[in-house]
Amino acid sequence: MMLLLPFASLVSLGLAATQHVLRPESTDGFQVFQSKHSDHSIRIRQQDESLCAAGSAQYTGWLDIGPKHLFFWYFESQNDPTNDPLTLWMTGGPGGSSMIGLFEETGPCLVNEFGNGTNYNPWGWSRNSSLLFVDQPVGVGFSYIDEGHELPGDSPTAAIDMHRFLQLFVSEVFPQHLNHPFHLSGESYAGKYVPALGTQIVKHNKLYPNEPQIQLRSCLVGNGYHSPKNSAFGYWETLCTTNPGVPEPVFNKTRCDIMAANMPRCMEVMDTCIGRPDPALCNAATKVCVDGIIGWYDNESAYKGGRNRFDITHTCEYDDLCYIQGAWIDQYLNSKKVWDALSPPDHIKRFNLTSFAISEAFEKTSDEQTSTDYQVRYLLENQVSYLAYQGNLDLACNTAGNFRWSNSLVWKGQAEFSSKYLQPWKSIVSATGKNETVGTMKEVRVRTSESTEAESRFALVTVNDAGHFLPQDRPDVALDFMTRWIYDLPFI
Ligand SMILES: *[C@@H]1O[C@H](CO)[C@@H](O)[C@H](O)[C@H]1NC(C)=O
Ligand SMILES: *[C@@H]1O[C@H](CO)[C@@H](O)[C@H](O)[C@H]1NC(C)=O
Ligand SMILES: *[C@@H]1O[C@H](CO)[C@@H](O)[C@H](O)[C@H]1NC(C)=O
Ligand SMILES: *[C@@H]1O[C@H](CO)[C@@H](O)[C@H](O)[C@H]1NC(C)=O
Ligand SMILES: *[C@@H]1O[C@H](CO)[C@@H](O)[C@H](O)[C@H]1NC(C)=O
Ligand SMILES: *[C@@H]1O[C@H](CO)[C@@H](O)[C@H](O)[C@H]1NC(C)=O
Repeated sequence: MMLLLPFASLVSLGLAATQHVLRPESTDGFQVFQSKHSDHSIRIRQQDESLCAAGSAQYTGWLDIGPKHLFFWYFESQNDPTNDPLTLWMTGGPGGSSMIGLFEETGPCLVNEFGNGTNYNPWGWSRNSSLLFVDQPVGVGFSYIDEGHELPGDSPTAAIDMHRFLQLFVSEVFPQHLNHPFHLSGESYAGKYVPALGTQIVKHNKLYPNEPQIQLRSCLVGNGYHSPKNSAFGYWETLCTTNPGVPEPVFNKTRCDIMAANMPRCMEVMDTCIGRPDPALCNAATKVCVDGIIGWYDNESAYKGGRNRFDITHTCEYDDLCYIQGAWIDQYLNSKKVWDALSPPDHIKRFNLTSFAISEAFEKTSDEQTSTDYQVRYLLENQVSYLAYQGNLDLACNTAGNFRWSNSLVWKGQAEFSSKYLQPWKSIVSATGKNETVGTMKEVRVRTSESTEAESRFALVTVNDAGHFLPQDRPDVALDFMTRWIYDLPFI
């Protein structure tokens, strides 16, 4: 990634823009902010460009709620931190660290190829918004839980912790954000996290109007795990047609015929699971889909040299996350330089990109199979806009599946949304400098309440030549749609 500005001017640009001076209640180099509403607190310290070449002020720390300790990395907006909105990013999994999003996708700095430092990312999502990365649920990445306590096993439980975190963060630590629009973003399993957290925020705001309110305006979720049923259905279109933007289908007719023949039973058993999301029923239903459809690809994936579930045009470079950047992040975040700067407690021995313990805890519940439709509908009915964006080369949470999901979502806007066709949209592509078609989109704006003029915007935006980790594959296009979305600007 090329630096746009010389390093020195970045530093001065960043620090000059710092609006907030932390109070000097200091322990171990951390400032501590105690909640006025409950017994939790945030410990925070400022970091500098040598840790992450961000181009604006940055802070790291932990939220402490009893035995739970949630790690965050916060960047002020590079544009106007006093007035710009706040955006939260959550990586999926379940169990994926949000440091994946920070250091290889949407962060203002990206890990370098030596795993010993970072480069400024001109397409970081803090260009026009303050940006917050949190390792969640507790147990993921640098977040940790005290011994003898149980890890969260579902998205609603994780959402309760995250809401407490946000409430304290915007009321006590960075109070300018109390009045700023707030946006929830993430990818993959964040298709569960984001609707769950959004719902928690809106419900809490209504129930406790005297507590600090989170001004949630919109959600934006990349290649979201919104509907396992529709993702399984989309396997056929993604692998057996050229629709993802490939010259030839990935699979031959033999395999495609088998998958097509197995599809009806997979759809039927998934409906049973959705109607009665008991883990035993859902695991059995999932097995039908894996044996008949998903396994034809996934069984040959997720190892070095194998197929890549996140981009059907690539092979895996590095373990099951497939991208070599994962190895660099692992190396960097386990280096002495980073540990000295962040100061994790002594009993934390290692930073892991993914938490096996969290994915195991989630497998014990049916969180992975339950539908988020109710929550997305609830958000839209409460004037929270929702964007599902898609890299078209992804298989795991494919465009075909989320297209079907977005049309099938039951709400006031469904009839209008499903009646529309996808239209090409354009963006200035940095490699050519030209205004080019980069994908397709459709959207509706619907007034969902009699008591307010505000409309809810629901959109599906697709991007060509990008996989599951869209902001890594097409960072310029990703920053473009992110900015247009949070500033409520049109795509076409
Ligand atoms: C984003 O920030 C740039 C640079 O500060 C500014 O010129 C631009 O107007 C901002 N865009 C929006 C949509 O606010
Ligand atoms: C990172 O590693 C490269 C290659 O070994 C080296 O040239 C560079 O100086 C190192 N950078 C830092 C900050 O240590
Ligand atoms: C279809 O693809 C599979 C997997 O690549 C291969 O084993 C099989 O031989 C192919 N069948 C035909 C008829 O080409
Ligand atoms: C894929 O692997 C799973 C687990 O080992 C197995 O149950 C399934 O039958 C396999 N599917 C295919 C299509 O090979
Ligand atoms: C990190 O992963 C290793 C296995 O690779 C495991 O032994 C260790 O317990 C994990 N650490 C944490 C903090 O989860
Ligand atoms: C790119 O092209 C579209 C459609 O032709 C147009 O509406 C848009 O204004 C153009 N964008 C820029 C930045 O020129």
